Amino acid sequence: MHKLYEIIARQLAERIDQGLYLPGDRLPGVRKLSEQFGVSISTVVQAQRLLEDEGRIEARPRSGYYVRTQPWPVPNPPALSRPATKPTPVTGQELVLRLVQATNETDFVQLGTAVPHSNFLPTRAIQRSLSSIARKYSHELSTYQFPPGNPELRRQIARRMAEAGCQTHPDDIIITSGCQEALTLCLQTIAKPGDIIAIESPAFYGLLQAIEVLGMKALEIPTDPHTGISLAALSLALEKWPVKTCALVPNFSNPLGCIMPDENKQALLDLLAQYDIPLIEDDIYGDLGFTAKRPRAVNAFNHNERVLYCSSFSKSLSPGLRIGWVIPGKYREKIEYRKYVTSLATPTLPQYAIADFLQQGGYDRHLRQVRRDYQRQVSVMIRAVGKYFPQETRVTQPQGGFVIWIELPKKVDSLQLCQQALAQRISIAPGQIFSATQKYRNFIRLNCAQPWNEALEKAMITLGRMAHELNKAA
Ligand SMILES: Cc1ncc(COP(=O)(O)O)c(C=O)c1O
Repeated sequence: MHKLYEIIARQLAERIDQGLYLPGDRLPGVRKLSEQFGVSISTVVQAQRLLEDEGRIEARPRSGYYVRTQPWPVPNPPALSRPATKPTPVTGQELVLRLVQATNETDFVQLGTAVPHSNFLPTRAIQRSLSSIARKYSHELSTYQFPPGNPELRRQIARRMAEAGCQTHPDDIIITSGCQEALTLCLQTIAKPGDIIAIESPAFYGLLQAIEVLGMKALEIPTDPHTGISLAALSLALEKWPVKTCALVPNFSNPLGCIMPDENKQALLDLLAQYDIPLIEDDIYGDLGFTAKRPRAVNAFNHNERVLYCSSFSKSLSPGLRIGWVIPGKYREKIEYRKYVTSLATPTLPQYAIADFLQQGGYDRHLRQVRRDYQRQVSVMIRAVGKYFPQETRVTQPQGGFVIWIELPKKVDSLQLCQQALAQRISIAPGQIFSATQKYRNFIRLNCAQPWNEALEKAMITLGRMAHELNKAA
């Protein structure tokens, strides 16, 4: 359900699109609009602010709102990626630690890591769960909660898995310290050093880092910014190389924000079955799509337990609580033991607290709100790129999640841009870290889960100016 002011904003936008109000026209005043739509003045004001954030209308002092003569344009998306389809060891990932360390600095504009601003997280409700649990379970909290982890949390997660189309029993689930640990445990269990892992390109750098430290090789597969990994390219790669496993983010991948259609998910499983290869599915953004219906996980099509499903609450509830999970199918015992050997247990208090939060209800309501928030932030940021960045810039149109992937003119080196931005207390993620071979040198990824305000607009203006200058200087 959309909020009333969002519905009014869309109806006003439609009037503009239909030419009822032309560029430069003044919109009717708030009183008039509130009468026309039968809503309160404050609802109209909120709707106008939303359209202003989207660059459709502009306020003129003491005169009201006008249709922009040049609305902020929406740039085109980048083309299908074309990585070198040859397995390679992963290098150059150390830079990422420096980048994430910038998020510890409170005065940075945080566009570099995919971490939502706390405004978008239910911090109050989590706080309440943490303190009530701390009072209720003082004895339990001082002990280990050994793998597979807190039974109530696993029960709550199993119930939620139905939304992704998966029939899951609580005993199928192992709680982990975030999705990153789940991914690492899966890689370690399935593959050994030197083995080849097929991945999307560009790929989430945490996955590349895990492949790097485990001494495996990444095989980057061309990926479409709308429909995800190219199955034709994957099929050729499987024919040619002894791939051990495929590790993908099929729903709202990071950084492309693309989603594999259901028929591709089924076809992917069929293809992997031909070669008897398991799939590591990272579904961390699955709950964060912009349409009402939650997409199915590949795991939902998994009739023969080929999928090891990984996820966490880091993008929707709290990255700091470090609660994730893995549904490892036939690898359950091995992964459970490896989890135990790696870290003995996931911290007890966060497990209890998230179980309590889920039990209280309200997670779905929170998701509905946060999906709308992320969609709006993404839309505003895309338009800001259209307004402030060089004309040839391309941007993805994610269908969920909250990051955008930006292709800058060829001459712009994103590492240089990143360094200049850091000097201005702005963090961005340079494209090189999303590839095993530091491809994507003229790409950047931006985190849109930040409140749109003057500081953020200024940061976008600064980044745009730097990109213009690097484009001219090179
Ligand atoms: C695709 C993807 N997988 C996994 C992770 C890591 O998640 P967690 O913080 O739960 O370990 C991230 C975080 O950015 C991510 O974007």
